[in-house]
Amino acid sequence: MTKLWGGRFTKEAEEWVDAFGASIGFDQQLVFEDLEGSMAHAAMLANCGIISADDELLIQKGLKSLLEKAKRNELVFDVKYEDIHMNLEKLLKDEIGDVAGKLHTARSRNDQVATDIHLFMRKETHELMTLLNNLKLVLLEQAEEHVETLLPGYTHLQRAQPISFAHHMLAYVSMFDRDYDKLQDSLKRVNLSPLGAGALAGTTFPINRYETAESLGFDDIYMNSMDAVSDRDFLIEFLSVASTIMMHLSRFSEELILWSSHEFNFIELDDAFATGSSIMPQKKNPDMAELVRGKTGRVYGSLVGLLTTLKGLPLAYNKDMQEDKEGIFDAVTTVKGSLKIFIGMIESMTVKKEETEKATKSDFSNATELADYLATKGMPFREAHEVVGKLVLQCIQENKVLSELSLETFKEASHYFEEDIYTALDPYEAVARRVSAGGTGFAKVKESIALQKAKLQ
Ligand code: ARG
Repeated sequence: MTKLWGGRFTKEAEEWVDAFGASIGFDQQLVFEDLEGSMAHAAMLANCGIISADDELLIQKGLKSLLEKAKRNELVFDVKYEDIHMNLEKLLKDEIGDVAGKLHTARSRNDQVATDIHLFMRKETHELMTLLNNLKLVLLEQAEEHVETLLPGYTHLQRAQPISFAHHMLAYVSMFDRDYDKLQDSLKRVNLSPLGAGALAGTTFPINRYETAESLGFDDIYMNSMDAVSDRDFLIEFLSVASTIMMHLSRFSEELILWSSHEFNFIELDDAFATGSSIMPQKKNPDMAELVRGKTGRVYGSLVGLLTTLKGLPLAYNKDMQEDKEGIFDAVTTVKGSLKIFIGMIESMTVKKEETEKATKSDFSNATELADYLATKGMPFREAHEVVGKLVLQCIQENKVLSELSLETFKEASHYFEEDIYTALDPYEAVARRVSAGGTGFAKVKESIALQKAKLQ
């Protein structure tokens, strides 16, 4: 078999060596991007008088036919031709004959593959942004429904202060909102055209890089041809955002898993997102949340993998860079899949309002209210903290909660205590009284929901 680049070789590599070097097994995912790039390149070559109009027509016809076949999944790739670029060149030759060889004028696989990944990353970035918005939407719907649903808020996984369930959902909305902004910002670096950089040094042909950039929808071209073919920063950036999204989903998974346990009993996940046990008939396991938590590791792995691949590379292109693809493809699939799971899981989740509210009444998460009460009446907060601490200790010894203490007990502890102390201890009142911006007060939570919804429009 003669290689497309076989001219200077006197000996062929053995099949297993070729197989080791081949990327067609995974870079065939770039078939549409590669064809799109080729169409733009061919049109530019003709417009710049580098190939004839007739040749261009033939090349476009061939590429279009390949595109149709690709859509029908009819293209047969061969590991012999190493990667998607040379496989398509070979298939184009089968379609239109030797004129196919003119397509590669003023182009290298180095700028070609860089162009393909930029196009791929742009498409996937938009898809992820849509999914993040859909997730934010279902979170906002749950939030709207549960503004006045009380939930224990935790620090150190110890009950801290009562909050609105909506406030908890809104915390995640803020995280996914940041992720969205990061993806949007990354498009500035994703949407640049490396095409026309050639192998590394540009080309002697009078090409027009701006024309291909424009027809491919890029905002601009890479300024430096060496940077154009060797830059993978935009993939590192993507993997970093992808890792952050997964970290957010993983923290959320952890909470959903805890919340659906018998010990917390705050939510019930829909049957569609849970599984049973093959031995224990009573079980309903939050498998999908666990799996999202588990899959976070592989996305981190792709980030660290690519950083490591790139760290020792001299300019410009090196074959090592072929290793960028599998991690990127896997991360895209993993994050998209995880987001889809979460959208369905959150949308269908039932909040056990009675249970979450019962929890806020059966603990000491209203102790801060008591200290605030004393401080409002004039006692220095540190002193108030001490007084309340002693009352909590007394409750623990008597196996009570604060609202079960008698008014006399309160008055013994401080003359500031009045009958209205029982209202202050009510968790609903505690949440309602929180007036600070960004806090869990019902009014503030409603404002946040409205703001976040407006952002989604
Ligand atoms: N399959 C290669 C990759 O994914 C394409 C570029 C190859 N260029 C080269 N000069 N060998 O990186």
